[in-house]
Amino acid sequence: MLQDNRQGYGLVSITIHWVSALAIVFLFGLGLYMTSLSYYEPWYHKGPTLHVSIGLLLFALTLLRVLWRLVSPKPAALPNHTPLMRLGASAIKILLYALLFTLLITGYLINTAEGKGAEIFGLVTIPAVIELGADSVDLAGTVHLVFAWAIIVLASIHGAAALLHHFVHRDKTLVRMLKPTGARSN
Ligand code: HEM
Repeated sequence: MLQDNRQGYGLVSITIHWVSALAIVFLFGLGLYMTSLSYYEPWYHKGPTLHVSIGLLLFALTLLRVLWRLVSPKPAALPNHTPLMRLGASAIKILLYALLFTLLITGYLINTAEGKGAEIFGLVTIPAVIELGADSVDLAGTVHLVFAWAIIVLASIHGAAALLHHFVHRDKTLVRMLKPTGARSN
């Protein structure tokens, strides 16, 4: 139930997948909301604290996700998946990982640019590794914003493809990311 197998995903991968998806959408909405606030609004300070804390937790979860992927068997493609579908799905997944890591790293760099560590709800502090000048912070901010939009667009394509598999091709692509595939169905 917990582990992935050749037939599908286990509870660990499924939970990480949906918690990450939720966190990404939440961070995107909160990030845009933060930039619309003026200094005297209460969320002007609360927003970034929450954004950075959830962002760092997502960073840890993403590292765990990559480790879990490396030590788990990879579910096989379904018989009706054409080579083109497999290529498209792999390309989008690689791009999503690349965008996600860039977002997590640029977010961390912006937050620690002045040499102060990044905090998770005031409980854990991740130390700063480099201080950045104003131009570099601006660049990291632009990359963070553009890549945040890109990840939302790509994740929407990825989600639309899953719905297409479910409703048009009527295969198990979406169901196996919703329901753990038990070891007995091996
Ligand atoms: C999937 C993950 C993330 C998404 C989708 C996301 C999304 C966003 C968005 C849309 C903005 C507004 C950008 C703007 O208009 O300038 C923003 C700003 C910001 N984010 Fe993130 N973010 C993510 C992860 C992180 C992480 C991990 C951190 C820190 C550890 C972080 C720190 C910041 C900071 C400090 C800002 C304010 C930037 C500025 O004032 O220029 N973000 N984020």
